Amino acid sequence: MSQPTRPLTSVVEAIGETPLVELARLTRGRTGQILAKLEYLNPGYSKKDRIARQIIEDAEANGLLQPGQPVVELTSGNTGTGLAIVCAVKGYPFVAVMSKGNSMERARMMAALGAEVVLIEQLPESKPGQVSGGDLALVEQAAQRIAEERGAFRADQFRLAGNVRAHTLHTGPEILRQAGQPIHVFCDFVGTAGSFAGCAAAFKEHDPAIQCFVVEPADAAVLAGRPLTNPNHRIQGGGYAMEELPLLRPEHVDGYLQVSDDEAIETARRLAREEGIFAGFSSGANVAAALQLLTTTFQGAIIAVLLSDSGLKYLSTDLWVS
Ligand SMILES: Cc1ncc(COP(=O)(O)O)c(C=O)c1O
Repeated sequence: MSQPTRPLTSVVEAIGETPLVELARLTRGRTGQILAKLEYLNPGYSKKDRIARQIIEDAEANGLLQPGQPVVELTSGNTGTGLAIVCAVKGYPFVAVMSKGNSMERARMMAALGAEVVLIEQLPESKPGQVSGGDLALVEQAAQRIAEERGAFRADQFRLAGNVRAHTLHTGPEILRQAGQPIHVFCDFVGTAGSFAGCAAAFKEHDPAIQCFVVEPADAAVLAGRPLTNPNHRIQGGGYAMEELPLLRPEHVDGYLQVSDDEAIETARRLAREEGIFAGFSSGANVAAALQLLTTTFQGAIIAVLLSDSGLKYLSTDLWVS
């Protein structure tokens, strides 16, 4: 998708075509490269704008969404922000259902974009800033109930193909084109696994030798078959310790990597200080995982990662208090 030589008809057309930047300062002294896709430069400051557009446009094309029909989805904030933007432009009322454990910047931003935001209490044992699979199950129940009550289209990011297609059609091919050289490895911190599945499909189709790694929190690496020792990690947007992710295809997975909260946080801070890149916890996790590979089994490799959202979304957390 190249940029047209005319004004965009709406901000929805500004989604995607984000820059790819080599993290040359973070990898100094090592052979190989980390190429980072700056997804926080999307209009809603996250990669999830892409899936919001794809899911809504797929539903319009398939007749599943009628003019003016409400849209409901559960969100850790980023998908909801993307949906709020797309629904505002296209005229659909949008209800975002979110755990109180996610940072409040996200709720405020969705509300500013015209969404109705329904906040769901966390489980008694959970902590703010640490949304567990159990917390997410409560959000899912509420989203189902609200969708039924309102006769809404459920923009179900854990199940709908649009979540994967956005990245197979766009994010993955953009990386292949922008890299200007072959890439060898892709690693991605998974929530729904839509980004991993979509990019991995594009990469494997281009060159089956590209190695694709799922990144999980060190204490909740259940997809890797490890025990769940702490469901309440700090890496917002994923790591829900769900053993089955409907969108994840085993044939795309070459391995699993684990990143601790401290590694993700320290790497997000280094991205800001050393690269001038202001991104969130999961971006730190992806780059930390890529650095693990560059220092161990993939010395000299070209590794692609997504920087999923903006550091602005965590100003109320202690990410930036060092
Ligand atoms: C900040 C952030 N990082 C990572 C992810 C995980 O992406 P995916 O759901 O495509 O696996 C999300 C998903 O919401 C997110 O918001």
